[in-house]
Amino acid sequence: MQTLCDIPLSSVAYLSNIFKSSKLTTIETILFWSILYIGTGTILWNSLDYFLPNTMHGFLFERMELTIQDWWKYTLYTHVAGGLTCLISSLLQYSKLLLKRTPRIHRYLGHIYALSIITTVFPTGVALSFTAKGGTSGMIGFLILSFATLITLLLGMIAIFKRNIKSHQAWITRSFALITTAITFRSLQIILGSLNISPDTNYQLSLWLSISINLILAEYYIKKS
Ligand code: HEM
Repeated sequence: MQTLCDIPLSSVAYLSNIFKSSKLTTIETILFWSILYIGTGTILWNSLDYFLPNTMHGFLFERMELTIQDWWKYTLYTHVAGGLTCLISSLLQYSKLLLKRTPRIHRYLGHIYALSIITTVFPTGVALSFTAKGGTSGMIGFLILSFATLITLLLGMIAIFKRNIKSHQAWITRSFALITTAITFRSLQIILGSLNISPDTNYQLSLWLSISINLILAEYYIKKS
């Protein structure tokens, strides 16, 4: 029979099973899920101003010369909506338990993730790269990010069509690492901003560091699992 003390313990075990995603240590697992959920939640919250009536996001003020051009404004809005869809659809994909119990949900969310990248995040990411902050380095960084995200996703899709689960997991993890640079990039901007680095250098450094850090973490995850 379950005692009062057992209930919280079994709930913790159940939760840790839902969130257990690989052979990561408990600390690594907690860090992974916390950063993913807090990062996605923060971006979602900060992006509300793009979609609420009678509000204008601070980034639009920063880029006033572009905001007055409809093509740029609507490309950015589409990009943010696609980016959020893609991030939210990935939130449960690393749960081994959900994958085992409800593979249909994994496939359904996977389709949303892939579609949002192919139809929205990739094309709008490419278009916005040419006007991005950070000069040539910013433009090249965002272009590499766009193409690398698409190519890793396509390789992950080809792998699952061939029923090669290991290869699917590895390539999708790389594409997921590139998509979540949206979280690392903004976190680094805040950290470097506190170090008295000029805004332009901060922007470029944050972009390139976020791509590098996330890809290194992805390789670590793949090696461990
Ligand atoms: C392949 C991945 C991605 C690429 C290549 C990319 C590219 C870009 C580019 C070029 C800009 C314009 C920056 C500028 O003008 O200086 C931008 C802005 C933005 N992106 Fe992405 N992006 C990606 C993923 C995401 C994701 C997953 C989100 C999640 C919501 C996102 C949200 C935003 C937002 C909110 C902005 C406006 C700037 C801001 O409010 O901070 N992006 N992105």
